[in-house]
Order: sequence, then C-alpha cells, then structure tokens
Amino acid sequence: MAGRRVIVKVPASTANLGPGFDSLGMALSLYAWVEMSASESTVIRLYGDHLEGVPTDKSNLIYDVAQSVFREAGVDIPELDIAMYSDIPLTRGLGSSASAVVGALVAANALIGSPLSQDKLFQMATALEGHPDNVGASLFGGIVVASWDGVRAEAVRLEAPSSLEAVVAIPSYQLSTEKARHALPSQIAMSDAVFNVASSSLLVAALASGRLELIRHAMRDRLHQPYRAPLIPGMPEILARACDFGALGVALSGAGPTMLALVQAGDPRIAELERFLRDVLEREGAACELMRLKPCAEGARVTLLEHDADYSTLEHWIRKEVEV
Ligand code: HSE
Repeated sequence: MAGRRVIVKVPASTANLGPGFDSLGMALSLYAWVEMSASESTVIRLYGDHLEGVPTDKSNLIYDVAQSVFREAGVDIPELDIAMYSDIPLTRGLGSSASAVVGALVAANALIGSPLSQDKLFQMATALEGHPDNVGASLFGGIVVASWDGVRAEAVRLEAPSSLEAVVAIPSYQLSTEKARHALPSQIAMSDAVFNVASSSLLVAALASGRLELIRHAMRDRLHQPYRAPLIPGMPEILARACDFGALGVALSGAGPTMLALVQAGDPRIAELERFLRDVLEREGAACELMRLKPCAEGARVTLLEHDADYSTLEHWIRKEVEV
C-alpha cells in the first residue's frame, strides 16, 4: 500500500425511473472523481462548483466511509489524503451522495488491495444510503433492478437500450431526499400498489427487451410522484405533456427536483422538448439547467497510481482524461 494512490471515477444516477420506487436506477454520463492515498495527516481537497460547503475535516463523508471499509477489513489507516471533484449537482435527485459513498467505498477498498468483494461494497453502500437504487447504478453502471429488505440487497444489472438517452431539467433549488421522503404517506391503496407493481414490471421488461414504445405507459407512478408534486412546481404538467414533445417517458429523477425525460437518440424533437421543460419550470419561478445525458454502461472505475505518477492534481488528471 505504501506509495499507492487511487482515483475512482463514479457515474451519477437517476433513481425510481417513475414507478420503481427504491428499486430501479440508471447510471448517467455525469461524473464525480475521488482520489485517495494514505498520509501523515489528513488533508481533504474539494474541486468544482458543486462541493461548496462540504466539510474538509474528518467529519467529511468520504473520510468517514473510507474508515468503515478499513474497519471491516481490519486495517488501520487513520490519516488520508483525499481529493474530490464532482460535476454532479448536490441534492437535485441525480445521486450525488450515492456517488460520494460509492467513490469512497471503492477507493478505500482499492487502496488496501481490494479485500472486500463488490457485493460487500454494495451491501455497505445500501445500508449507508438507505436504498439500493442510486448506489447500485453508481457501483455497477447500466440499469440496475434492486431490492433491499433492510438486511440484504440484491441487484441485477441490465444493459440500457443502445438508442436510449436522457434529457434532465435541473431546477436551481435544492430538495433534500429526507424532505421528499417525509412527503410520502405511510399507507397507500391496494389499487395504487397494483398499478405500480404492473408499471414497474412492465418498465423493466420494456427496457430489457428494447420495447421503447412501452416506456411512456410503463413509466407512470402512483406511489411517490403525486405526493411529491407540491414540492416541485410544474411537475404535474411535465408528467402529463412531455410525451407530446417526443419524450419516450418522463419521471421525477430520484427524490427530485430534477425531471428526467427519456428520449430516442437523434430524435429531432429533443430541442422542442427541452424548450417545453424549461418553459414550464420557469413559468413556475424556477430557473433550470438542461443536460443531455446518456446511460453510462460502466460503474465505478478504479485507476491505481504510484506516488510519482505523471500528474500533479486531481483536476490535472481529470482534464487529461476528458481530453482523451
Ligand atoms: N428512491 C429514493 C427516493 C431515491 O425516491 O426517495 C432518492 O434519491
């Protein structure tokens, strides 16, 4: 381990995909990077616009999660040199905290020679996040169908259909997952439960078999979106009308407030769809950022470096990687 430095690239994720509450996730082509090495004293450096206000002492999530890996593996590395850069906006429903958790678990494990299995990391990530959908997608990539009974998480990874892409409309305001979960009822009607089981099952089958025309029907939800609507002005109109502008299907991304529209790559109506999403959110008083993203087939990826590797900072490394 002496001299070892690891860099982990982790994709963002969208959770639920509409009806698959806490059980469906998809990795997206937007990334965070975590760099880690053992050190004489702990230093935590954060880069990029999205990590403002994140602590840089030992209360930092990356540090804390790394220590849980070392404890599990019976290794003692109290001081760490950590750097993180992220393009994933915080608390917008794009899995920023899951990407940090996964980045920290994978980096810490790689630093000590990977004694913990992927499955063990997935169990730890799910327990930390409280649901497996975002962490599963960030860890494994692709589309992840997952379950968690509070003790054990299981996941099956599917390849996303090759022509599937996503448009995300990211409102300028933040919405914590905790607040968005508080909006949910403790009980729902049997008919709504049946509706969601059918929709979610159909959605997985449609994605697995490439039946993209079924997505619009299958992406409907009665379990969480209706209850979260008051927190995301404009959401009901977007859910009702995005398919008229060419979306294959539309949903709240994770706990929101980002709206996710699935589209067919190269569809000439995408610009019109983007205008519609922006207009609705702006009419409701929220500026928004639009991004066209692709499903990301690869999950968290480790690069091992020796201390004298040919680069100075994580930013320099990322710039080189992005240029390739
Ligand atoms: N499935 C979770 C929720 C995702 O909807 O609350 C949070 O990102």
